[in-house]
Amino acid sequence: MQNIDWDKLGFKYMDTRCHIRYTWRAGVWGKGELYESPEMGIHIAAGCLHYGQAAFEGLKAFRCRDGSVRIFRPQDNIGRMAMTARRICMPEVPEALYLEALDRVIQANEDYIPPYGTGGSLYIRPLLIGSGLQIGIAPSPEYTFLIMVIPVGAYYKGGLKPVRAVVYDEYDRAAPQGVGHVKVAGNYAASLYAHEKAKREGFEVELYLDAKEHRYVEEFATSNFVGITKQGVYVTPASHSILPSITNLTLMQLARDMGMEVEARPVLFDEIENMAEVGACGTAVVVTPVHEIVRGERVITTGPSDGCGPVLQKLYDRVRAIQYGEAPDAHGWCHLVPGQWAH
Ligand code: PLP
Ligand code: COI
Repeated sequence: MQNIDWDKLGFKYMDTRCHIRYTWRAGVWGKGELYESPEMGIHIAAGCLHYGQAAFEGLKAFRCRDGSVRIFRPQDNIGRMAMTARRICMPEVPEALYLEALDRVIQANEDYIPPYGTGGSLYIRPLLIGSGLQIGIAPSPEYTFLIMVIPVGAYYKGGLKPVRAVVYDEYDRAAPQGVGHVKVAGNYAASLYAHEKAKREGFEVELYLDAKEHRYVEEFATSNFVGITKQGVYVTPASHSILPSITNLTLMQLARDMGMEVEARPVLFDEIENMAEVGACGTAVVVTPVHEIVRGERVITTGPSDGCGPVLQKLYDRVRAIQYGEAPDAHGWCHLVPGQWAH
């Protein structure tokens, strides 16, 4: 095992002990094995390579204050991957097999879970791909499901430091009736060009508007959009072409628990300038404050430039406390990984 500087973890790949991998053939999932090598062979005519049959998920496991290891809301990611699989004609991974795979791969990589108190977590990346050879347009005859894990810290340098976002009207991410609501790999290919342009121009992330009219806010490339109005209402866009973020669902529930009003509805771009706070939320970014949104000549500033606004800070603190087992898990979101810590 390599020496890991837990306090300096960012969000980047590193080899861990192993990943777990299953194959689906003739309607049946195999047993699944742990593989030490991070490489695998694949047929040059595999459906995922040519026709984009590839879906992934992102979730996290935490080393909690009591030493236990907990995965945050895995059933929701399992359900979302099933929805993605159906949309691009791949077989679903049954929940029981999926949960067992998560437990097995986390147990096998236990020493890669950042210790409690470092602020890190184990990022879990399940991947489902059409691995069978298929050259006429049709679903692949064979599928591979794997889960890799990586210790991570903050996605953006500086943790809760506010970021700048940009809107490019010349690039869309998802069509109104397309696949923006599911987690297919192609959605990320569709956003890469604008993402690289944004980085070159000094923005951490790009914000997408609805592809039909460019009037409504959709989401960021890697996360959902959350706005807190001056009246203290939690507002988030409802649209068929954005990914239903599990972090967003969590924050909405926590906001309601705090007595806040929550609105999931179409959100006009023009509403942003009246918002007290804006944030990006997702597994990787958790809750990241966005203090500036640039669209052409227009520059909208929201919230403080040197830190997180008070409402998003409170929501961030609450979700982190539940994830690290410091606050009661009132909604039953955390899955305890079996192990010697699970007494
Ligand atoms: N939107 C996009 C495009 C994403 O890639 C992600 C990350 O998974 C999210 C939103 C946030 O979803 P979640 O909170 O389930 O991680
Ligand atoms: C996640 O938050 O898990 C994501 O999948 C976003 C990203 C890093 C692509």
